[in-house]
Amino acid sequence: MTIGLFDSGLGGLSVVRRVREHLPRADLLFFADQAHVPYGDRSDAELLQLLRANLAWLDDRNVAAIVAACNTSCAMAERHGWPATRAPVLDLIAAAAAAVERSGARKVGVVATAATVSAGSYGRALRATVPRIDVVEVAAPELVPLVESGAAESAAARAAVARACAQLPPGLEAVVLGCTHYPALAAHFRSALGDRVAIVDPAVVQAERTAALGLPEGNGTLHCVTNGPRLPFARAVERVFADATVASIDPASITHLNAR
Ligand code: DGL
Repeated sequence: MTIGLFDSGLGGLSVVRRVREHLPRADLLFFADQAHVPYGDRSDAELLQLLRANLAWLDDRNVAAIVAACNTSCAMAERHGWPATRAPVLDLIAAAAAAVERSGARKVGVVATAATVSAGSYGRALRATVPRIDVVEVAAPELVPLVESGAAESAAARAAVARACAQLPPGLEAVVLGCTHYPALAAHFRSALGDRVAIVDPAVVQAERTAALGLPEGNGTLHCVTNGPRLPFARAVERVFADATVASIDPASITHLNAR
């Protein structure tokens, strides 16, 4: 039995990592839609088309469950409804709301893609879950391209995170990394926010919820598939998971939406 995960790109690896910590014997299939990254600048209509295509691709591979590793896709689903799937889907924004509730924080910032912030899904999900919470959402469109291009550790990435965090009001108790690319920038967030602000990575609760499904164990394999160029993807995957297998597929086999 295989568990499927999807994202626009390398960000999903941060969720894969957490799921493997909780379920080292699970067989995982991760799909990165790198032909269409970044998602954050796309329209709702395009994002819904991509979400439908990604879910259908995983469903066609008979996965036992689909673990969303993309907040932007979950924001679209929150706003417009989840496309029907055979496999159950675990919603990352719902996991984020549970993570914030657990943190005890009531003054919370969310840093996310432009599409996620303009959907307003985080604000709605957090207010529905945590009574009397104050939520501020900030878009950080510069960050995903930096992670995708392998520049997460650069001075440019550090400065871009500092610029995003400078838009947050003072006095926050927690900041949610509302895009799965951002854990790759966690050290920059920590230095921009200081030690007094909790940093919430929704992938931790997402992984707990995946484990709670109680699916039968497998052999601990990880297969990562991109519809972008194979070599840079393979290098990025191998930096995190030495044991993973990697493949690339034709973007047109997923959807006919224009690739970037
Ligand atoms: N990693 C995704 C997210 O969690 C999408 C980022 C993007 O492609 O803009 O929102």
